[in-house]
Parts: sequence; structure tokens; C-alpha cells
Amino acid sequence: MFKKEVYTERRRKLMEEVDSGIVLLPGNQDVPFNYPANIYTFRQDSSFLYFFGINQANLAGLIDIDNNEEIIFGNELTIGNIIWMGSLPTIKNQAKNVGVDKTQPLNDLQTYIKKAILGGRKIHFLPAYRHKTKAQLSELLGMQYSSINDYKSDELIKAVVKLRSKKDKYEIEEITKMVDVAYLMHTTAMKMAKPGVVEREIAGAIQGISLSHGGPVSFPVIVSTNGQTLHNNYYGNILKEGRFLVTDAGAESEMSYASDITRSTPVGGKFNSKQKEIYETVLKANVEAIKDIEIGKPYRDTHLLTAKIIAQGLKDIGLMKGDIDEAVAVGAHALFYPHGLGHMIGLDVHDMEGLGENNVGYNNEFKRATQFGLAFLRLGRRLEKDFVVTVEPGCYFIPDLIDIWKSENKHSNFINYQKVEEYRDFGGVRIEDDIWVTENGGEVLGKPIPKTVDEIENLCQ
Ligand code: GLY
Ligand code: MN
Ligand code: MN
Repeated sequence: MFKKEVYTERRRKLMEEVDSGIVLLPGNQDVPFNYPANIYTFRQDSSFLYFFGINQANLAGLIDIDNNEEIIFGNELTIGNIIWMGSLPTIKNQAKNVGVDKTQPLNDLQTYIKKAILGGRKIHFLPAYRHKTKAQLSELLGMQYSSINDYKSDELIKAVVKLRSKKDKYEIEEITKMVDVAYLMHTTAMKMAKPGVVEREIAGAIQGISLSHGGPVSFPVIVSTNGQTLHNNYYGNILKEGRFLVTDAGAESEMSYASDITRSTPVGGKFNSKQKEIYETVLKANVEAIKDIEIGKPYRDTHLLTAKIIAQGLKDIGLMKGDIDEAVAVGAHALFYPHGLGHMIGLDVHDMEGLGENNVGYNNEFKRATQFGLAFLRLGRRLEKDFVVTVEPGCYFIPDLIDIWKSENKHSNFINYQKVEEYRDFGGVRIEDDIWVTENGGEVLGKPIPKTVDEIENLCQ
């Protein structure tokens, strides 16, 4: 964990942001995989980690705003637990290390909350994303399980988003370390991208790299020669020349901070001319977006800049036509680039997504668009100092989408469907980096991972 003052300061700021009442932050519980004692790898709740720092199951943190009191509820290990799991530092000592003096058994939480409710106190909680947490809240608060999230605290969500959005120097260090692990994962994948290799050989190797450096991967890795399927978790294809291997993968630190990087490598390590043209277009979008990043600039504008770069690149190849500004305004480029430029990253890969995408990426000034493509942009609002965001433009040829649009003659004034047919089996390309928003613009975190055509070809030689 970080030093004590990091957590006391975070909780002090939270107390300033929330007017009154009690903030209840349940930690995560163990979740069975296929029978009760066989559990998924434990992952602590990110907001609990942010404010209370203890990476252990079955805890709950409580902050009484009005009485300036903080308590961690949890049961100390019994000898039965210790025999199987070994002894851990006590909850009491761990709580002290994050500046919380008071700990109580978990059972006391019910009594505490009941008393607070009877006293007419407001209990603030964040939307629950796990069934076990929903059940716990439902029991504690006497509210129906199925509607528990209707009672989430918008005031608490706003406060937590405000604090977690800006990363401090310790958090930047953690993310940077994980981009450095991603460097090893991605350069390994590039070198392994040879004809005849099966995707799972690469997926296994890079997940092992992440584990051996501290944490598991930060999300199920995408290692696919079908990169046109955006979140593809199938690893059974044999690599063939002429296809790209899209590897979208990151590591999670012992402190649970994530990296999220994508590289696209031509199988065999040499770009053919068709691959080079599309790749250079996506690379230009990635590089220009990073240059465009600036405190105060709406990320939607940077997204639209990349949409125009990609549309122009596709026009130069003959896949699109007409006025590029108009094409992007009506969303014609989204046939090839149907997702957003990026998202915040931190303790979660899609940082704070569990608190509601629109609460994180949008506000009163920037509302989410409804147009196909732009609607998938997770972050549209103005950037602030010390945000960390991903820049991940892509270009894809999705046969099913092409068929639907073509049959509808959709945006045919901007799309050359005849030429598109020549690219039907092309697959996809995405290039993703993690960027720190600073006073000097966007800073690419971590050791630079090969991304120009020359860099990739040299590495794969
Ligand atoms: N790894 C999923 C994403 O890039 O957003
Ligand atoms: Mn990614
Ligand atoms: Mn991403």
C-alpha cells in the first residue's frame, strides 16, 4: 500500500466533497468459480482500495462525515483460517497503516447501520456491480436486492469520480511500471507472431509475463488475427501471413493499477503494401491524437480529429470519398472506426466505469452522442491536469457490418463499397498507448513500445 498520508488525505478530501451522512464502501468478497472453496482470483473493489488501501476480502470501510469518524469492519482470522491460508497482518494493524484507528467485527456493521437509519442518517453508497455486494447492501439497508442500485448516492459518485480522475505521482508511477511490463508482453507477442503459431501460445506467454511481474493481467487479453472483432477473447486461430495479430493487453500492479496497450503486428513481421497503408493511417491518428492532448480540450474533439485522419487516409486509398468533414459529421467513417478514441485508466482499466460511464466521461457541458460510432466514445469531456487516458484509434473491416451498410446503401456518397470488397478479409488494426495529461501536453507513459513500421519490422526480424 501507499504511505498512510495518501489515504488520510484522500478521505479528508472525500469528507469535504460529501455534505453530510455516512459513506459506506464495501470491499469485495471472494467469489466461487465452480464450487464454494474454489474461488476466482481475489480482486479488491477499486474505490475501497483508493480510500482504504487494504487488499483483503470481506472488509467494509465507513466514513461518518458528520462526526469525523472512520471505521474498518472485518473479522480477524481464526486459527482455522490461518492453518489453510497462513497468518496475515491483523486488520487492526493494516487499518493503522492507512490511518484508521478504529476496527470492528463485520457483524457490528449491521447494528451500526440500523442505528444510523433509525436516526434518520443518510447512507451513501456507490452502485454495486457484484451480486454479493448487492446482497450485502440489501441486507444491511433493508432494501430490495433487485432495486438496490436505484438508491446509489449521486453525490458520492460525483465526489469519488472527482478525486479518482486526477492521478497523483504514486499512481502515475504504478501505471508507468505496468506499461513497462506491457512492453515485455507486447514485444514478446510481436516476436512470436510467425505463421503457424496458434494465438493461445502467445496469449499464454504474455499472461505469464504479467503474472511473473507482480499481478495478473488487467483484463482478459485480446490476442487475435481477427482484430476486426473488437473484444475478441478466442485464442484458437493459427497465424497466417497477410493477417495482423492484434494484441490488446495490459498488466495489473500489486497495488492494482492497470496498463492497457494495443499493438498490431503483421504475421511474419513484414508489412505488405496494403497493410502498410492502413497501418500508417491508424498510426497517424494515434500520434496526432497524442500531440493534440491538452488540458482543457474536450476529448471528443481529439476523437473527431482521429476520425478525420482515418477518413482521409481511407479516401487516399480509395475506400472513402467526398468531403471528409461532412463524412465524419454524418458518421460515415464509423464503418471502419466504430469505437471511441479512449477512456480513463487507473485502478480500473476503464477507470470507474462501474460508477457509470456517463458520470466519468461526460458532464453538463458534454452529453454523450447517439450517433453510431461516436456514441461508443467513453470520454467526451474536457481533459484536466493529471488525468490518464488511453489513445486507441483503429481501423477495421467487419464483414457483417459492411454487408448491412452496403445493403442499405448507407453513406454511399462517402463510401466506395466496390473498393471495400477488396478489403473484406483484411481484419483490423488498433494502436493504443496510455497518456498522462500534463501542463506540457500528453506524455506517453512507460518505455516506448515499438509502433512505427520500421520499429516493428526491426524487432520481428
Ligand atoms: N482493453 C480494452 C480497451 O482497450 O478498452
Ligand atoms: Mn486496450
Ligand atoms: Mn483501452
